[in-house]
Amino acid sequence: MAIDVVGLFPEAVRGFCDCGIVGRAQQFGIVALRFWNPRDFVQDKRRTVDDRPYGGGPGMVLMAEPVAQAIEQARGDRPETRVLYLSPAGRVLDHEAVMTLAARPSLVLLAGRYEGVDERVIRAAVDEEWSIGDYVLSGGEAAAAVLIDAVVRQLPGALGHEDSAREDSFAAGLLDYPHYTRPEEWRGERVPEVLMSGDHARIRAWRLRESLGRTWLRRPDLLEGRELDAEQTRLLEEFKQEYRG
Ligand code: ADE
Repeated sequence: MAIDVVGLFPEAVRGFCDCGIVGRAQQFGIVALRFWNPRDFVQDKRRTVDDRPYGGGPGMVLMAEPVAQAIEQARGDRPETRVLYLSPAGRVLDHEAVMTLAARPSLVLLAGRYEGVDERVIRAAVDEEWSIGDYVLSGGEAAAAVLIDAVVRQLPGALGHEDSAREDSFAAGLLDYPHYTRPEEWRGERVPEVLMSGDHARIRAWRLRESLGRTWLRRPDLLEGRELDAEQTRLLEEFKQEYRG
């Protein structure tokens, strides 16, 4: 997959993407990242990319032309490439959207700064607008890094263990179950007995029960309108009874 990032602080995204799973995915050729700075597309000595907003108000707005040129260079001769603008005014990213994006051959991500980007370039050059949550960041770089991480870990071969992404929270529409590692006892608390039983069927059922229970406690919205099968219903009932007790 090819991901091109357009923004004023490419080093912020690059630094993040050179670490861990995404760094490894780059080394293995699973994802190719490139960075484009609108500042490189202006000629004046001070390399100005922003100006005051028409109509007044605080802050500065990124000018259309340098952003448009950076996007055009990033997109190159790839009409199928979608341009995504990271902005708090976009649709909120979720697991389903991440899976859709991960199926694309290439993406161009536009990270804004200041108060925003001139609306005309968004209309002319942006295909989709995505937010990573209902809060405002100082710029789109952190959001671009989040999107890249979420997408790249879904690409075949990106994770050492192929089941890891499938077992993630949300992959099954549920929150993840709790995890434990050595030592068996830490500050007086023991690892749940079942996890050391070696009984894979019991372990699977316990994990499913914990996933269902956590989702019920923390994110009941995820269970609304969802049909649970007989086993899931029984496990969630078990969890609820234990919780209430
Ligand atoms: N830029 C600023 N805030 C953002 C957010 N919440 N999501 C995506 N991009 C942003």
